[in-house]
Amino acid sequence: MKFFLDTASLKDISWAAQAGLIDGITTNPSLLAKQAGDLDPRDVLKEICSLVDGPVSAEVVAVDADGMVREGKELAKIADNIVVKIPMLEAGMVAVRRLASDGIKTNVTLCFSSVQCLIAAKAGAAYVSPFIGRLDDVGQEGMDVIREARVIFDNYQLATEILAASIRHPRHVVEAAMIGADVATLPPDVLKKLLLHPLTDRGLEQFLADWKKLGTRPKAPV
Ligand code: E4P
Repeated sequence: MKFFLDTASLKDISWAAQAGLIDGITTNPSLLAKQAGDLDPRDVLKEICSLVDGPVSAEVVAVDADGMVREGKELAKIADNIVVKIPMLEAGMVAVRRLASDGIKTNVTLCFSSVQCLIAAKAGAAYVSPFIGRLDDVGQEGMDVIREARVIFDNYQLATEILAASIRHPRHVVEAAMIGADVATLPPDVLKKLLLHPLTDRGLEQFLADWKKLGTRPKAPV
């Protein structure tokens, strides 16, 4: 399973990339607006693309097909590793087809059902992003979308990658991995939690304490 970081924070991206923990990045307009402040969001995206050896999703804000294609082409010029994020709309599917025919990769976002994922895959999306946490928030079982989409994509040998999005905790990651999602995009705090277990800390503390005793132990007389 590939891990993407779901953030536009340059600090978090640098940390995770240098630690070799991530295979790509997803951003969205909310995340980018938070990071950009007074900066040009395009410059922020350029910087992100230079920090990561892998795909960087950048989202269009137009909601008509022509606008999405125009913005998508502009975004794709920022760097070779840009993937254009397109919302799951009828016009979005038109844009995905047009961008795919120009060789531009897309990530269809805001997917909340497996048939939306199927439609996006048929349109030629490189990734589909079902939003697990937001479905859980409204009392539905978000992981069901991943489960159904995996079966459907396997039935028809669809190459589109299933990207588990809106991940809220490590258990989401485990379940998505067991189902066979291709990618999980993780907020930085969730990625940090994946590294931790209290028994790891306790075990290491004990090992180091025992090792330290070795050096201070009096030698037996010869
Ligand atoms: C994915 O690409 C989205 O940016 C993200 O996962 C949305 O997550 P949220 O529901 O926590 O905002």
